[in-house]
Amino acid sequence: MHLAQQYADTQGDPEYIKAIQQFIKEEQRHAHFLKLALQKNSSPVIEKNWTDNLFSKIRKLCGLEMMVSVLFTAEIIAVAYYGCLAKASKDPVARVLFERILQDEAMHLKFHGEHLQKLRAQGRWGTLRGGMNRVFIWAVAGVVWHEHDVVWNHGFGSFGEFLNRCDGQLSRAIMG
Ligand SMILES: [Fe+2]
Repeated sequence: MHLAQQYADTQGDPEYIKAIQQFIKEEQRHAHFLKLALQKNSSPVIEKNWTDNLFSKIRKLCGLEMMVSVLFTAEIIAVAYYGCLAKASKDPVARVLFERILQDEAMHLKFHGEHLQKLRAQGRWGTLRGGMNRVFIWAVAGVVWHEHDVVWNHGFGSFGEFLNRCDGQLSRAIMG
């Protein structure tokens, strides 16, 4: 919120603060409903995960663009992930929940993608920064594939397919 406030002040864009607040509320709502879905199926809730900690640390490394790039990367993975969860789930209530989250994530992807384009158009080496984000997405896709292979088996035959889907999402979100 601090970085978003700084951006809103320097760019004269108070609407960005409202949008980020709305985004945070939606992510918190997703977490709450996912917790309820797990509890309904008597599954334990994971309190900590090393990938979550790592994401949180990288997100805070430097500046707004880095933070938005990390959030954007998470949205790209989320769009593929919730699609697979919806396909894999036998619980009709959970399936509706995953499909609903998927709709929200698609909007988040558009929101962060548009903002990243704006940030990269400012300053130098915008194309290089975009290229580095693409490499980061590939790396994260590798880690997530390794950690969640049970889910991916319902949506992708291979890691290459999954990577192509992520790349496609990236191109659509950044280039329209
Ligand atoms: Fe999201």
